[in-house]
Amino acid sequence: MSETIPFPQRFGSNSGQSFTRRDGIAKVTGAATFAADNNPQGLLHAVTVPATVARGKVTHLDSTAAMAHPGIAAVITPDNRPPLSGDPDSKNFMFSFRFEALQSREVRYANQPIALVLGQSIEAARQGARLLNPRYEALPPRIGLDGATPYKLETGAFGMRALTVHGDVEAGHAAAIAAVDVTYETPEHYHNAMETHAIVAEWDGDQLTIDMPNQAIVPSCAMFAHYFGIAPENVLIRSPYLGGGFGSKAIINGAQILTILAARMMCRPVKLMLPRDEMFGPTGHRGATRQRIRIGIDKDARMTVLDHEALATTSTFDDFVEPAANASQGIYAAGALRSSHYGVRIDTGTPGPVRAPGEAPGSAALECAMDEMAEKAGLDPLTFRLKNYAETEPGTGKPYSSKALRECYERGAERFGWSSRPLRPREMRDESGFLTGWGMGTAAFPAPMFAAKARAVLRPDGTGQVETAGADMGQGAWTALAQIAADSLGLPLDKVDFHSGRSDLPDGGIAGGSGHTATAGSALHAAGEDAVRRLAEVATADPASPLFGAGNAGVIASGGRLHVRGDESRSESYQDIIARNGGVQIEGNGSGARNSEAAAQHAMYSHGAVFAEVKIDPDLFQMRVTRLVGAFAAGRIINPMLAESQLLGGMIWGMSFALHEEAKYDLRTGRIMNADLAGYHVPVNADVTGLEVITVHENDPYVNALGIKGVGEIGITGTVGAIANAIWHATGIRVRRFPIRIRDLLPAA
Ligand code: MOS
Repeated sequence: MSETIPFPQRFGSNSGQSFTRRDGIAKVTGAATFAADNNPQGLLHAVTVPATVARGKVTHLDSTAAMAHPGIAAVITPDNRPPLSGDPDSKNFMFSFRFEALQSREVRYANQPIALVLGQSIEAARQGARLLNPRYEALPPRIGLDGATPYKLETGAFGMRALTVHGDVEAGHAAAIAAVDVTYETPEHYHNAMETHAIVAEWDGDQLTIDMPNQAIVPSCAMFAHYFGIAPENVLIRSPYLGGGFGSKAIINGAQILTILAARMMCRPVKLMLPRDEMFGPTGHRGATRQRIRIGIDKDARMTVLDHEALATTSTFDDFVEPAANASQGIYAAGALRSSHYGVRIDTGTPGPVRAPGEAPGSAALECAMDEMAEKAGLDPLTFRLKNYAETEPGTGKPYSSKALRECYERGAERFGWSSRPLRPREMRDESGFLTGWGMGTAAFPAPMFAAKARAVLRPDGTGQVETAGADMGQGAWTALAQIAADSLGLPLDKVDFHSGRSDLPDGGIAGGSGHTATAGSALHAAGEDAVRRLAEVATADPASPLFGAGNAGVIASGGRLHVRGDESRSESYQDIIARNGGVQIEGNGSGARNSEAAAQHAMYSHGAVFAEVKIDPDLFQMRVTRLVGAFAAGRIINPMLAESQLLGGMIWGMSFALHEEAKYDLRTGRIMNADLAGYHVPVNADVTGLEVITVHENDPYVNALGIKGVGEIGITGTVGAIANAIWHATGIRVRRFPIRIRDLLPAA
């Protein structure tokens, strides 16, 4: 049978249904074991000693007292650390970061690990860590956006662009009959996944087994192998469950390397679980940004220029700079566009990807600036956006594969009741006298794909098994991916075993960039198709089968049977086909990646529009988001309940960005003062009311065969601006710094 005949796609029996999470019961009953739940025989417990200064040198560290403690097995410091095969200050992989693994006594940020203490119990290890009595030679820390002199970026992190220019920017400025020139600031954000970073490492000869939460399981094996001079195949990562990730668990950090090193040194398994406060420093964060946005319009209120310049903080020893200005590249059709980036090196850990890297702070500033421009033009903010949103990708001219953004604007506005919004601020009060405001923002997020592989098996009993090494951070990927796999095998969901979360399965790629369902889903779909194709070859070539002679393209798979297309009376069950074939299971393989030809011709984004209502106490200026309506077009929705939950989660993160989250530094020491969940504010249940998500149907035939985009991060974009704009509408005050605080509104009295 020719490989070139595409097997018909099967949709609908499982995809499109709101199945609850397949791992839900295991999680709520405690049967799901997370990395730190593993307690192998002979386990040692590790704790790191975090630096209490942000810049300088460790001058004194005394292991004597700790080593005299009966429960302490070892103390590892820069003086006795065994060698690594890879240099922690070099970068060898696409997603490599430099990190601290006790390679020197230099301190580059507060909470940097300066020693690792190994105890027979966690209590002993903690006690031992307190006996080291470190002393430092400290230099004044450079903290914040003004902590050092900015530099212009030549290249962006992970291959992202540092400078993008389309059209004649100066001419665009000159042609404007009205303009805004506004600067917004956003603070540092820390991931704060519920499960902190945990690792259990165990060696057997040169075989390394690691239990850890990980968003990039197979790629991480190669990285770990590099630092220990072993082959990637010798590393097994088990990551069945993650308590959140948000980007930080896609990156390797020094504490993990030290734990693996300690396990090899001691010939015993070692466990490390970072306490919450040590998640502030060595495990990545979102840098602070200062963004200047200049928009000009012509007499018809069409944008002549969108000029977005972003400065962001990074560390002194690595290069990740939040690509915030790139958020202006995908949405509005300005005559000229420029996105440029600057960095400032300060004494913090290195920033990294945090949910919607670049887009979150970038779209916050952009949507606020758009609102200020609309005000200046005397236009309703939605009207202004409808005049200016792009129907093709700005700059490249590549068409979006649908016109769904307009429908998001219209359906969101209608549901919200936007048309009765007064143009001017401070004109709405509710029945209790609260200042009431309505604001909106456009949401957009790229729809990337990474590369993934998968395997599918049809077993003699007629059930299926599918495998890919992907990760479910809690978003429900295992359920949505299993739905796709079941459809491709022509089986109901409960007849398919789904295996994931281990590096010895086919590489599932990276759970990040909102691209996991699209990527791993495509691989699973292809693997299932391959298995069914092979099954059909067996059946249609067998004179004993009712399918004999139908030809591969002449059969369809559903309900665990192959049917002759157009003649339902001719069909045979998978069991019978396999039994006659000697009872040998049928295997299929597949991969998923972006089709580069399609990507060269089409722009690929998810789109949306978010509408917000805020109510503000006229005396105390407490702010409440009372309603949020988000309308999103994100391609095919595999599981509506889980997708809506992702979009709601994104909108809540946006609320968090607008009103709550901020890492606060003590400028004298460079230490974070709110390195805990009491002081680092996020919305709680009482903050979250009146959220609504509309998913706008979108058929995108170009992104991948399944038409899947992503829903993980787009909910954050648009929401921050919508809330800030609603606060302006309620009060008449433009707050240009996030999070917005009560004191920012006091002059409104
Ligand atoms: Mo993410 S910041 O793509 O986990």
